[in-house]
Formats: sequence, C-alpha cells, structure tokens
Amino acid sequence: MTETKPILEVLSGTRQTIPPVWFMRQAGRYLPEYRALREHAGSFLKLCFTPDFAAEVTLQPIRRFGFDAAILFSDILVVPHALGRSVSFEAGEGPRLEPLNAASVKALRTEADRDALAPVYEAVRLIKRDLPAHVALIGFCGAPWTVATYMIAGRGTPDQAPARMFAYREPEAFARVIDILVDVSSLYLVEQIRAGAEAVQIFDTWAGVLPPREFQRWCVEPVARIVENVRRDIPGAKIIGFPRGAGALLTKYLDRVQVNAVGLDWAAEPEFVREHVQSRVAVQGNLDPLVLLAGGDALDRAIDDVLANFADRPFIFNLGHGILPETPIAHVERTLQRLRRS
Ligand code: CP3
Repeated sequence: MTETKPILEVLSGTRQTIPPVWFMRQAGRYLPEYRALREHAGSFLKLCFTPDFAAEVTLQPIRRFGFDAAILFSDILVVPHALGRSVSFEAGEGPRLEPLNAASVKALRTEADRDALAPVYEAVRLIKRDLPAHVALIGFCGAPWTVATYMIAGRGTPDQAPARMFAYREPEAFARVIDILVDVSSLYLVEQIRAGAEAVQIFDTWAGVLPPREFQRWCVEPVARIVENVRRDIPGAKIIGFPRGAGALLTKYLDRVQVNAVGLDWAAEPEFVREHVQSRVAVQGNLDPLVLLAGGDALDRAIDDVLANFADRPFIFNLGHGILPETPIAHVERTLQRLRRS
C-alpha cells in the first residue's frame, strides 16, 4: 500500500516538495486551550492518564495550526511511574521522583504495571479515531539514558552529574536500570503502535553530555536494542531517533541504530549532517526554539536556513528541541505560512 501521509513518505525515504512539519511539545503551555484543560485536570499526570484529556490535548495544535503529525500527549516519565517509582510534577518546578540508589536498584521492578500504561494506549485509539486523514500519529518514549538521569537524580539537573557519577561508580547497578528500561520501553512502543501510532520517536534529550565510550554504552547500544525489539514484533515500524547534542557522534549512532530518521538539535553542523547523516537517513529539525520565540526577521532567516540546509532531500521540519512556553502563537502561524508558501 502506498503511504498517503507526507511524514510517513519521508520516513520511507521519499522527499516531499513542501516538507511536512510538526513541533516537539506542540501541545503545551503556550496554548491557552492547553492551560485551560491542564487546570481543569488538576495535575499533569491526571492529564496524561485520562484518555479523553490526553487525546483532546494532542489534537489541540492540529486543529489550530494543521500540523502534519500529532504527537501523543504524555511524558517520558510515565515509564518510571509504571515501574512503581513515585513521580510528580510540581507547577513551575519540573518533575520530582524518588531518587534511585544502588540498594533500591536491586529492588526495582522488571516489568511495567500494565494497568498503569493502559490509559496511554486508550488515548492513542481515541486520537486515531479523530485525526484528519493526512495527519500522522507519532508515539514516543524516552531513551533509557535520559529516563535514567531523572530516575537516579530524582529531578532534572543542569549537567546530569548524579547519573553520570552513578554509571562510573556502580556500572552493574546502572546497567540493570538501563536493561529494565530497554525491555519496558520496547514493549511500550510496540503497544503504542498496535493501538494506532504510525511512527515513534525515541527522545534522548541528554545524549550530548556523555564521552564517546559512555555514549556508545548508555545511549547507542540500549536504543539499538529497543529498535531491534520493536522491529522483531513490528517489522516495518517507523522510528525516529533524537540523540540531542550528539554532534559528530551521530555517525556512531547510525552505525548501530536502524532508525528511519534522526532528529537534529539546532547546533548540528549542516555540512556534516548532509554528508554523513542525511546521506543515510531522513533528518528532522532543527529550528532554534528561541528564534521561534523571538520572531521577526531573525525567524524568517532561520526558517530559510533550515530549508536551504536540508529540504532538498528527505526532511521533516521541526524544532531543535521543544517549543518554549512563552512562544507567541503568531510566530508558529508565521512559520507554517512561510514553509507552505509556493
Ligand atoms: O511533544 C509533545 O507535544 C508531546 C508531549 C511531551 C511532553 N513531554 C509533555 C510535557 C513529550 C514528548 C515530552 C517528553 C519529555 N518529557 C522529555 C524529552 C524531550 C524534552 O523535552 O527534552 C523530557 C526530558 C521530559 C521530562 C519532563 N516533563 C520535564 C523536564 C518537564 C518539566 C519541564 C517543563 O517544560 O515544564 C516535563 C513536563 C511536561 N511534559 C510538560 C509538558 C507539556 C509541561 C507540564 C505542564 O506544566 O503542563
């Protein structure tokens, strides 16, 4: 069957004349309709785990802007939650988890609570039912390394030092955490695809802080195993990898991780990417979220740069990281108009 959705065409290796577009964190606090439902839900996890709410929030940016893909509304930290770790989101403070130490790693569950993640799959089914025909639905999980940085530290940290230190001092205990996350995340993605997700993205937000040897061990190998596991169950599964900040290590990533596309952060060097990355897979990215916030001529110039860099080969337009909460809606509209003018 031929694909009819532009993003899926790109993930199959076919360039689109007008690059398809979606934004990381396209459902979020910059939208008044998101803030209203978030307040109505009471807590962020309630929003994630109530299928009607999660589906509604997922669809909000599709209705408003007509993106080419919807991304399931959830969070990478629902996986530790399903492993029985306490997870909460305090307003304006980010995530809080009960930190893991060598002793608690031994007691860590090896399987997710199925009931805990069932509402996510139900949300996928609801979204799929209401999604316009040309819009693709993207599921996701966090990469084991990035999820582990939050599980070890119990919160976001500026340099991920607690997890890096734990990996040096307690490599066996750390490997156990990573192995559990590989298994649970593989199954989680398979279930999202079975429920209707047409592609999945693996977010490795903190891939860029590791030296090459650790990058190979804690980012590349675990994500390679997830991709293999998912494709064992779903051979044609379309997978986007996002090893943020990997820089020149992207080639090592691609040597092992069989993704259909890689997400680029805004610091990626275009000539390097064209020669060593886009020659092998489609790329996605990489507008600086801060220039989207800034707007004006700087935004126009940055959009044109991204297109000049990557749009002559298989390419999905996106940001280099998530949209910032202060972003004016008019700047998102302006970006889509500029992309789609012909
Ligand atoms: O992209 C999307 O629109 C889908 C939804 C999505 C969210 N988080 C919603 C969210 C996705 C794909 C994520 C991934 C995620 N979550 C990552 C990887 C990508 C990235 O952005 O780096 C990480 C590291 C997390 C962990 C996380 N969740 C943090 C650090 C925070 C607090 C920071 C913040 O922006 O408030 C969250 C909360 C969160 N996840 C919000 C949203 C919309 C904001 C919560 C709110 O106040 O409503």
